[in-house]
Amino acid sequence: TKLDMDLTAIEKGGYDHFMLKEIFEQPTTIYDCLRGRLDAETGNITMSGIQKYAEQIMNANRIMIVACGTSWHAGLVAEYIIEELCRIPVEVEYASEFRYRNPIINKGDVIIAISQSGETADTLVAIEKAKEQGAIILGIVNAVGSSIARISHAGAYTHAGPEIGVASTKAFTAQLAVLTMTALMLGQQKGTLDRDKFLLLCKELAAIPEKAEIVLKLDSQIKALAEKYKDAADALFLGRGYNFPVALEGALKLKEISYIHAEGYPAAEMKHGPIALVTDQLPVVFVATKDSYHEKVVSNMQEIKARKGKIIAVITEGDTVTPTLADDVIIIPAAHEIVAPMLSVITLQLFSYYVGVAKGYDVDKPRNLAKSVTVE
Ligand code: AGP
Repeated sequence: TKLDMDLTAIEKGGYDHFMLKEIFEQPTTIYDCLRGRLDAETGNITMSGIQKYAEQIMNANRIMIVACGTSWHAGLVAEYIIEELCRIPVEVEYASEFRYRNPIINKGDVIIAISQSGETADTLVAIEKAKEQGAIILGIVNAVGSSIARISHAGAYTHAGPEIGVASTKAFTAQLAVLTMTALMLGQQKGTLDRDKFLLLCKELAAIPEKAEIVLKLDSQIKALAEKYKDAADALFLGRGYNFPVALEGALKLKEISYIHAEGYPAAEMKHGPIALVTDQLPVVFVATKDSYHEKVVSNMQEIKARKGKIIAVITEGDTVTPTLADDVIIIPAAHEIVAPMLSVITLQLFSYYVGVAKGYDVDKPRNLAKSVTVE
């Protein structure tokens, strides 16, 4: 009815879709995630839910992260960050694989369950089993009071607010904010992260909301780029290190929203087979922000260019090398490699959104998909 239409329009806050609204909410939702926990001025992080189990986590011989989909990608970023800052081995598992694999779980093992809805059946059953076997379950959840939050021993809410769009956007960046704070707090306590680097990273994290605002200003450029590539049959997303999970997430977004077959891959792995796919019809998106892997990503880009691949590169302002190789560049603010995924992913969220819109699809409710997969 007209009233329903009006109500939905109000709920969308003037945006055409919930997904776009939620993409644009990210400066605020990331800030809300950090508020009350991160004090970058004094160099303090307070996360009482995680703190309660700090000893067990710091002394764990490994941490297992269990999740699905976009949340699994957040787990991959967390693996790199926790191993870098806390020097604790981390294994990231698809929840659906983990639970049927008869995993080796010892009493006192630490499991981090990441879930926006807190109702994903694969993740819920996986942690129920692990809990029975004596593991400590920490939930990184968005939906307050959800099943996964309730079954966890402790954890932290992502405070992104209700996420209506089926494709997860603001929940993902909020998950990264929480997981980064967790690694910073524990690395500092464990003594594997020195005070100076801790303070620097706290400031880098605190600066993300305003840098996210700058990334969102690329909206119309990315819309034009999406219209340029909307008819591609396939797409590749490549990245290394912290940007590798971002490449996977960019590919998932494009698949979910535009139904284009897209694949995320570690950039250096291309030469072990997949580079055979490269033609001048294949858009290859490089997540190539300035970091410790950059010159290697550039040589991977040269390999693709030599085979006439169409290159779209997400790069850091001031990078003068990549624009000579890429057909299109998306330039984002400089940020430490550990926090840069929260910025680079926004460009890929916008890209997939505008491709889906250009193809006339219902981007809030893509075909065959449910917002929360509560069945196994
Ligand atoms: C992501 O855009 C998808 N909607 C989907 O992969 C989702 O991330 C996955 O189903 C996990 O959901 P959860 O975070 O609510 O557990």
